[in-house]
Amino acid sequence: MQEIHSKREGFSSSIGVIAAILGSAVGLGNIWKFPYVTGVNGGAAFILVYLLCLALVGLPVMLAEHLLGRHTKANAVGAFKALQPGRPWFLVGGAGVLSAFLIMAFYTTVAGWVYSYIFKAAGGTLLSTKPEDTSLVFKTLVSGVSEPLFWQVFVLLVTGSIIMAGVTKGIERVTKVLMPLLFILLVVIDIRSLTLSGAGAGLSFLFKPDFSKITVSVVLAALGLAFFKLSVGMGAMITYGSYVDKNENLPKMAIKVALADTLVSLMAGVAIFPAVFAFGFKPDAGPKLLFIIIPTVFNSMPFGRVFMVLFFVLTAIAATGAMLSLLEVPIAYLTEQYQWTRRNATLLTILGIALLGSTATLSNSLLAKVTLFDKTFFDFFDFATSNVLLPLGGIFIALFVGWQWGYAKVKQEMSNEGKLENDGLVRVYMFLVKYVVPTAIALVLLAGLNIIHF
Ligand code: PHE
Repeated sequence: MQEIHSKREGFSSSIGVIAAILGSAVGLGNIWKFPYVTGVNGGAAFILVYLLCLALVGLPVMLAEHLLGRHTKANAVGAFKALQPGRPWFLVGGAGVLSAFLIMAFYTTVAGWVYSYIFKAAGGTLLSTKPEDTSLVFKTLVSGVSEPLFWQVFVLLVTGSIIMAGVTKGIERVTKVLMPLLFILLVVIDIRSLTLSGAGAGLSFLFKPDFSKITVSVVLAALGLAFFKLSVGMGAMITYGSYVDKNENLPKMAIKVALADTLVSLMAGVAIFPAVFAFGFKPDAGPKLLFIIIPTVFNSMPFGRVFMVLFFVLTAIAATGAMLSLLEVPIAYLTEQYQWTRRNATLLTILGIALLGSTATLSNSLLAKVTLFDKTFFDFFDFATSNVLLPLGGIFIALFVGWQWGYAKVKQEMSNEGKLENDGLVRVYMFLVKYVVPTAIALVLLAGLNIIHF
C-alpha cells in the first residue's frame, strides 16, 4: 500500500461508490440506534422531526462533503488545507478525526454485542419469546468483563484487516454484495412483526404523531441522529467523496443514499415496534431494545433460529461497513498528511480505539459508576459525538462551502464542470448552506444543550 500517495485508489465503478457510501451510512445507526432513539423520544412525532432534519440539514451537509472531497481528492484535514492553506479551517477536519475516534469507541462496543449474538443465536441461548428471558441474556453479556471486551477487540481486528487490504479491493467488494441481502431479510422480519397479534399499537407508535412529545432535547436528538445516520459532520463523506468519479451526479447520489438509508431505518422500526407492543414490552428501553426484542420476533416464526443467525450476521456486516468509513478517516489522514504506511496507521488507530473503547464497554460493569457530565463513558461518547461534535462540524462545513468556497466553485463542482444543467439547484443549495443549515443547527444546539432558552 506504499504507493498510495502517487496514485490514489478510487472505487472502480459507480455502483461501487454508491454501495460504499451507502455502506458507510447504513449500519448500527439504522438497526440499533434509530429504533431505540425513536422509542425513547416518543415515536412518530420524533420521526417527523428527524426527517425534517435529514432533508434540510443532513442532506446538504452530505453533499457539501462530497463536493469538497471529490474536488480536493483529499482526506478530511487535507481537503481544508488544500483550499485554504495556512488558515485554521483544517481544524474542522481535525475535529472530524477526533469524532471518528470517539464514535468508534462506543460503536465497537455495540458491534461486539452484535457479533456475539450471532453465536448466541446459533447456540440456542436466545430461544424465547419472553422479553424477560432475552433481557437476561443481554444483561449477562454486557455486565461481564472479558466477554464483551473480547468481542470489541475481535471487531477491531476484523475491520482493521479489511482496511489494510485497501480501498477498492476491501471496502467495495464486501459492501456491494451484502446490502441487498440485509434488505430482503428486513422485509421478512417486517412481515412477521406486522402479523403478530397486537401489532397495530406499534404501528400507531411509529406513524401517528403526538406533537406534545416534542421538546428541545427531542429536536436535538433528532438532529444528532440525522448526522450520525448519514455519517456526516466529521469528514467520512469528504474522505469517501474523494474516491468518487468526476462524472457522478453528486446531488442525485446524495439524495439516493439518504432515501435508501431512511428506508432501512423505517424498516427496522417496523420490525421492532409492533413486536414491542405485541409482547407487552416498553418502547423506551434504550440501547438494549434491539437485543431484547428481535429474538422474540424470530422465535415466533418458523425457522426463526436460522433467520436470527442470518439477521445478526448481516447486521454485523452492516456495522462493519460503517466502521470501515469511520476508520478510514484517521487512516487517510495519517497516511496522507504524515506519510505513514497504511499498515502502521491502521494498527496504531485500532490500538487507540481499543484502549478508549474499553471504557465504553465496561460502562455496564466495572465502570458503571464512573461518569463524565453525568453520563457513563458509553453515553458520553455517544452524546458528545452525535449531539455536539457532528452538528458543530456540520455548521463549519456548511459555512465553509457557502462563504469561503463560494458560488462559482460550488457550481463548477456540482455541475461536473458545466456538464450538468443544474444552476437553479445550485442557487437553492447555496441559500441552504449559507443561511439555513448553520442557523438551524446553531439554534438547536444552543437550545438543546440548555445554553439559551426560548
Ligand atoms: N452512519 C453510520 C450508522 O448509521 C455511523 C457512522 C457515523 C459512520 C459517522 C461513519 C461516520 O451506523
